[in-house]
Amino acid sequence: MQAHRLRREDGRTPGNFAEAAAHIFAVNVPAAHRVVAIDGPAASGKSSVARELAKQIGFDYVNSGAMYRAVTWHVLQHAISPGDGVSVARLLEASRIDCDLDEDGSRILIDGVDPAEHLREDRVNDEVSLVSSIPRVREILVAKMHAYASDRNVVMEGRDIGSVVFPETPYKFYIDASPEIRLRRRIAQGQRDRIAVRDRADSSRRASPLVVAEDAHVIDSSNLTVEGVVGEIIGRLKLKGMVI
Ligand code: DC
Repeated sequence: MQAHRLRREDGRTPGNFAEAAAHIFAVNVPAAHRVVAIDGPAASGKSSVARELAKQIGFDYVNSGAMYRAVTWHVLQHAISPGDGVSVARLLEASRIDCDLDEDGSRILIDGVDPAEHLREDRVNDEVSLVSSIPRVREILVAKMHAYASDRNVVMEGRDIGSVVFPETPYKFYIDASPEIRLRRRIAQGQRDRIAVRDRADSSRRASPLVVAEDAHVIDSSNLTVEGVVGEIIGRLKLKGMVI
């Protein structure tokens, strides 16, 4: 195992054998670089906040929801039932999934195809919760998320980034908003998205459900602008000692 994998988020190397062993055998490989985790339910405003935050603090922006949406689109393209976990897992294991970055943030190519323009289609909105509840799908994509943070600082948004993907990061935020405001935001984006249904599915699934991580700072964005939320997050990051 490389030395940098053993470095803790606070920059110290593990001090004793037990601590080193805990790092070596940890299920979640700690990020070598800094990760700001932005979690929250659908249409809570977390994408706009995460993107703007990344720009202001000079980190790369990773949208993990887009990764789940991309594999959902791929599954539908292959006419595989999203409820058939075995076939979905088999398809993904046989597919080439490349994750990289462009000037706009994270990008995913599946078997060489960039599905970006399809990610907000109704059929993807309708099935993404089911596909993302399959443990093997999560395993494959979480490995890609760890890879993003292995050699760069990232702002990563999703549902379980602070609770499961990077539990060791000290920088965790949970963005929420009232159901009425969230629905209004989706309609303003011209989307038909049954967010209440998705929220229920994302919160009640067995594998890494949407939860507020114990040490996350919760922000209700209902009456705040994107700039307001970003300002609050930057204030917290500085309080935690991040030099920005
Ligand atoms: O953030 P979003 O609405 O684009 O996410 C789409 C779906 O992906 C969401 O309904 C659940 C799933 N998802 C997940 O399970 N875990 C994540 N870290 C991010 C998204």
